[in-house]
Amino acid sequence: MARRLLSLVLISVPYVAASSSSAAPSTFTSTLSSSAPGSSAPVMSSTSSMTTSSASANMTSTIVSSSGATTSTTTSTSYLATETGPLTLPISSYSFSPFPTPTLAPEPPIFPATDPLYPPPVSSDPTVVPDFAPAWAAAYTKAIAMISNFTIEQKVNVTTGVGWANGLCVGNIPPVGDFPGLCLQDSPLGVRDTDLVTSFPAGITVASTWNRALMRARGVAIGQENKMKGINVALGPMMNMGRIAQGGRNWEGFGADPFLTGEAAYETILGLQAGGVQATAKHYINNEQEWKRTQESSNVDDRTEHEIYAHPFLRSVMAGVSSVMCSYNLINDTYACNNNKTLTDMMKREFGFQGFIQSDWSATMNGLSPVAGLDMTMPGDITFDSGTSYFGQNLTNYVMNGTISETRLDDMATRIIAAWYYMHQDENYPNATVDSFNFYDPINQEVNAQSDHYMIVREIGAAGTVLLKNEGALPLNKPKNIVLVGSDAAPPVSGPNEYSDQGGDPSGILAMGWGSGTNNFTYLISPYEAIQARARVDQSSVFWDFNDWDLSQAGNSVIGMEVAIVFVNSDSGEGYITVDGNAGDRQNLTAWHQGDELILAVAAQNNNTIVVTNSVGPLIIEPWVEHPNVTAIVWANLGGNEAGNAITDILYGAWNPSGKLPYTIAKSPIDYPAQLVTGGTAADILSINYTEGLFIDYRWFDAQNITPRYEFGFGLSYTTFEYSDLAITTINPAADYAQMDLIDNWENGGATPIAEGSSTALWLHMPAYQIPQLYIHHPPSVGEPPSVLKGFTNVEVSPGQSVSVSITMSRYDLSVWDVVRQGWAKPEGTITFSVGASSRDFRLNGTIPA
Ligand code: BGC
Repeated sequence: MARRLLSLVLISVPYVAASSSSAAPSTFTSTLSSSAPGSSAPVMSSTSSMTTSSASANMTSTIVSSSGATTSTTTSTSYLATETGPLTLPISSYSFSPFPTPTLAPEPPIFPATDPLYPPPVSSDPTVVPDFAPAWAAAYTKAIAMISNFTIEQKVNVTTGVGWANGLCVGNIPPVGDFPGLCLQDSPLGVRDTDLVTSFPAGITVASTWNRALMRARGVAIGQENKMKGINVALGPMMNMGRIAQGGRNWEGFGADPFLTGEAAYETILGLQAGGVQATAKHYINNEQEWKRTQESSNVDDRTEHEIYAHPFLRSVMAGVSSVMCSYNLINDTYACNNNKTLTDMMKREFGFQGFIQSDWSATMNGLSPVAGLDMTMPGDITFDSGTSYFGQNLTNYVMNGTISETRLDDMATRIIAAWYYMHQDENYPNATVDSFNFYDPINQEVNAQSDHYMIVREIGAAGTVLLKNEGALPLNKPKNIVLVGSDAAPPVSGPNEYSDQGGDPSGILAMGWGSGTNNFTYLISPYEAIQARARVDQSSVFWDFNDWDLSQAGNSVIGMEVAIVFVNSDSGEGYITVDGNAGDRQNLTAWHQGDELILAVAAQNNNTIVVTNSVGPLIIEPWVEHPNVTAIVWANLGGNEAGNAITDILYGAWNPSGKLPYTIAKSPIDYPAQLVTGGTAADILSINYTEGLFIDYRWFDAQNITPRYEFGFGLSYTTFEYSDLAITTINPAADYAQMDLIDNWENGGATPIAEGSSTALWLHMPAYQIPQLYIHHPPSVGEPPSVLKGFTNVEVSPGQSVSVSITMSRYDLSVWDVVRQGWAKPEGTITFSVGASSRDFRLNGTIPA
């Protein structure tokens, strides 16, 4: 039976200036009704010493003498010139006091003490802010006890990977004393480099569902597969922002809006950790393009950093994430893994992060990075197979000679071991049964981790498919005949894993991008197979032509057919692999294999041409979007190993389309606010200036009055929904609430006073207002984009039924980052909001009560 989901979007509208002194939190409610049977609707709202490890025993490097005289330069060899000169910490003595754990007492029901294995149930209207502090505190006690007898070398070993390819996983921490070590493994969409696992839909696909329950379910299933394979730390989710449409790894993440990305990261982490594996929030931060990713400085202002790029990481901390991975790039001229501001000041102090920060692979640039806040170096060696490490013996020496305090080393080792206790991995956790470096090692087949996860893959694949155009062509109804055109409809010619890390020109359906964010398909269902299975039921006659290059043959193949479906794709990935001239990032935003010409050739001969895309991101579709013979466009994203079945579910109406775009599809590439920065010599550090500030994606189109082809949040359904009866309610905290003074301060225009965990404090994040899909509009004086997403929810609506939906908003959701006061503050003026179906389709408007 068809399932229908309705999405509501709430948007904030510009404030009308007015003073507000005592705004109390509110509740919004509104009603949705559906015109068709069995509908459901999504609703959006806006406002080493390596001496103990044989594998790494030869990882030595030169050292600095206790007098401070440098006897070696290994810690500085990677410093490259920047515009402002190399930013290095001087050799000196660095004392250290760890930040205390934020100690706010749990306050059920809103702020219950939570174990990461048992998160609060998923809710489309979240009213619970889980408090992981007690679980961290218990884990810290155990970790401190464990390391109390460790030598300096042993503690260093806890922080230093064993070196590239010296263990079963892509990253490995050796056993130390009673600590069995750690296996760290990609990827964000499933367990990488092994067999008998599921290939889940990519991050961009689950983001397109706008459905928290599916985000959580995917997280749980990936977490379970990681645990079954004995992975301790999963290297995901990835939550960079899709600042530029060409960004090679955008598909690993959750789109171009911080709120949607933040919610997807939050649910994914709660799910992964409920499944038993430690999650990793990556790549921290501003790793927005592949070109020269280790030699580019992302230059970002403080407000933009807080409100856009750091937000998903803040939500990750609120989800109790175990680990954070710092990125390859520089931020404002300092390398991310050596950046005291982002690692220590923001992540550990402001967000109150209790877990450990690991480097991206060979992103550690300096032996003094621990002083900046780095806790673990991965995979351990300076460059792959170099046999040298910035940690290891160097770190031991720095601690022994007083350059880095032993308290800091203790903090590093404690954080790593605490995260392991926190996740109960000391309690019969399975050993790793993957071999990342030899697929044919029988160990890869020892454990079948797939379970029945194909069902989740298929459901997310369908729910994450966005219907962009439908002139009555869909759903298909027992067509007499149907022709499939384009290689993207087909199984790949040489099997599902044609290329290592999927790094090659796809010869069949594109169901994930390339790079470390992939895994091996255990099997892969193409549209060709799924549609044929359906044709057997319907007794339809099926034809196909998978040759993308012979346009006249394609045109001839569709003449006289009832339905012609053209499949096109566009691929990208991680920069260590170049495919067809695309060095990770996309060179252009057009479909691969002359997809535009293929569509036009088919549409020229058939007046019922349906286009299906499998794309890593936006495409420019102007050449054919308005062609009268293009009767439907199905934006199927990257579906994982059930991709063909999910597409078929949409085409035949087994799933009523409910997906929404997680980015804007422009009419021209130059309409986007930022472009890929290329060029530079081997020694250059590129400057990438985030001059668009807060105005990424739809925020830019709105502010500049640029009409997109399809805006962020857009997506059709086979059903129509009506929105009515908007109400907003303020939720008042109990009068004796412990942080009432902070609330009063905020209501009166004061900013968050900076302290440990100040940006994740309960008073700031507790539900304060309740509404349905919500975009908020700040007062013009505040300088915010015209509309910003601040909430979304999904409801299932039966034919003709009306359903009330509500979305909660917190004080944080209404706040802007005040760079002068360094805190979250309520903007002065009136905040308005809109509820609707996309970032440009507002159905109801209201005002946040002052
Ligand atoms: C990627 C990370 C990945 C790591 C380990 C790096 O190249 O940027 O995302 O987790 O490799 O494979």
